[in-house]
Amino acid sequence: MPPFVIVLNDDSTYFLQVEPTAQSLMQLAAKGFVFWAGKAIERRGVAHIALSGGSTPKALFELLASEAFARQVFWERVHVWWSDERDVPADDKDSNYKMAHDALLSRVPIPAANVHRVKTELGAADAAADYEAEMLRVIAGVDEVTPSSPHPLIPSSDSHHEPSAPIRPRFDLILLGMGDDGHTASLFPHSDALQVNDRLVVSHFVPKVNMQRITFTYPLINSADTVIFLVNGAGKAGVLRRVLIGDVQPAELPSQGVVPQGKLFWMVDADAAGEVATGPGYPADEFIYRRVL
Ligand code: 6PG
Repeated sequence: MPPFVIVLNDDSTYFLQVEPTAQSLMQLAAKGFVFWAGKAIERRGVAHIALSGGSTPKALFELLASEAFARQVFWERVHVWWSDERDVPADDKDSNYKMAHDALLSRVPIPAANVHRVKTELGAADAAADYEAEMLRVIAGVDEVTPSSPHPLIPSSDSHHEPSAPIRPRFDLILLGMGDDGHTASLFPHSDALQVNDRLVVSHFVPKVNMQRITFTYPLINSADTVIFLVNGAGKAGVLRRVLIGDVQPAELPSQGVVPQGKLFWMVDADAAGEVATGPGYPADEFIYRRVL
């Protein structure tokens, strides 16, 4: 089966791209990474990219570090972040930072100052606050956020002025995975983190994985210029069907809450797409990817 694309909605901002194999999927994702990083550097001289965690992106990171792709990225202008992190040390086998460092960052000429690790050694809550302050400084250009200063994410309610719009750093590209329960980043079903609208990054205990997680919130994710979900394997076919063409229930399926202002690409392999799209002939009206307002 050749690769195919289905436009998921009528304003052509949501796409489902299906590749025949996991290998060709990683090629597609690597080309997407190169393309969107390049567009951002053209536009603003730098590309702020959030990497996803888990096991799926490892093959993508290894491909980006390979001869075929590494030279296509202007690494000196790329800043990498993590859309979520486990509350473990940076050298722990479960660290999303460690996986990306070993598979990619240690093999390409990205300046150390451009690698923005979640400092889990601070403890989950402080690491989340520290991460948020760092992205406000580095991406949004907000001066040092101190406990006494008004939080830049909460619109000021100064009576003399209209409430100011919240300051939100805009990522050029956010990579996301999806768990078989429909979670993404560390936004798990029915977790309080799903309701947060005045923070960029939060920490919370996740019973399913019995650990603290640090995660981007919906406001930060949905401010992105481009979001790519990378999903492969038959094990994700059922949840992908529920997320894309099932009932809209983001509390149950948090991936449905990702409705970015920019473009959204679902990049999947044929195994993962097995229950939603077996060919480009699918009537587009079956894929009304609803915007969760
Ligand atoms: C994490 C991730 C998480 C991941 C999904 C899919 O820290 O685990 O960020 O959201 O993307 O759980 O994980 P797999 O790629 O291992 O299936």
